[in-house]
Amino acid sequence: MGETYDSTTFEETLREKQSEIEALLRMALPKEEDFQKTVLEAMNYSILVGGKRLRPMLMQETYRIFSQKESDRALIQFMLALEMIHTYSLVHDDLPAMDNDMLRRGQPTTHAKYGEAMAILAGDGLLNLAYETACGAFEMMPYRGDSGFFVERHQRIAKALAVLSRKAGVYGMIGGQVVDVECEKKGDEVTPEQLDFIYRLKTGALLEAAMVIGAQLGGATEAEVTLVESVATKIGLAFQIQDDILDVEGDEQVLGKPIGSDEKNQKSTYVAHYGMDAAKAKVEELTESALGQLYRLPRHNMFLEDLLKSLVHRQK
Ligand code: IPE
Ligand code: IPE
Ligand code: MG
Ligand code: MG
Ligand code: MG
Repeated sequence: MGETYDSTTFEETLREKQSEIEALLRMALPKEEDFQKTVLEAMNYSILVGGKRLRPMLMQETYRIFSQKESDRALIQFMLALEMIHTYSLVHDDLPAMDNDMLRRGQPTTHAKYGEAMAILAGDGLLNLAYETACGAFEMMPYRGDSGFFVERHQRIAKALAVLSRKAGVYGMIGGQVVDVECEKKGDEVTPEQLDFIYRLKTGALLEAAMVIGAQLGGATEAEVTLVESVATKIGLAFQIQDDILDVEGDEQVLGKPIGSDEKNQKSTYVAHYGMDAAKAKVEELTESALGQLYRLPRHNMFLEDLLKSLVHRQK
């Protein structure tokens, strides 16, 4: 939120927040040494090469709605963990067996640079490092006796870990990727329900993890967490539809990944099913609806609202 924030400084504030997250990532990433140096290089390459850092940012900004503090060390562990999981999902998504893409975040994909085996292992490495990093949240909040405060903090961290694992797994991102792959080349056979399932899981789930964990660690009530999750579901759906729109009419230089990947793989997308105009209208409608729900929370975070609005017309 920051006392100095007003909407005219959005772009500048966004860049500052991205740099802060990148500095934290740099500190958390492994040293490139020892016999497994290659995979460590591939992991660091994949994560540091670029990216909007949207998920850790959403987590932190949601936390700020509920907490009096700007941040805390447990929260930071989860922000880092989520960006690691997201990056692993991209590394595997780009593999020849999946979307078979050669450009990511403006640079060669991990398999293009390090080979397929190393890209699989780098993804696995990032996933495991993510959980190690998230578990570090407990150490940031050492247990001191049976004080109610620490018990409550630890319970919140345990819940956040459960959310992270579930939303990244077969009931979340992986589940969505499975159906995405199975629906390739199926065209009109794919039902609206299947399409919604793919979007809600492959992309929505990690955005839900971001905002739900931010809310949980910030001290939100159960009812508030539920509301936040529903906001994130809508934003996730809008975000993936916009991703599909950019896959058709984006600029590869700006986007940093190939245009036409979905067409190449005959993916089932909102754009293919409903047409470009309907897809664009849906992004606006979902974002409006999500913001309407967000306004019902007791405190506002103007930067978060501007961030969500900015995603509607994002070019990358
Ligand atoms: C790309 O996510 C994959 C999708 C879920 C659409 P982002 O668009 O957030 O990718 P980065 O992190 O900025 O590279
Ligand atoms: C991927 O969807 C979502 C993930 C879980 C990685 P896409 O395949 O459309 O993502 P991009 O366009 O390659 O980033
Ligand atoms: Mg994909
Ligand atoms: Mg892809
Ligand atoms: Mg895409």
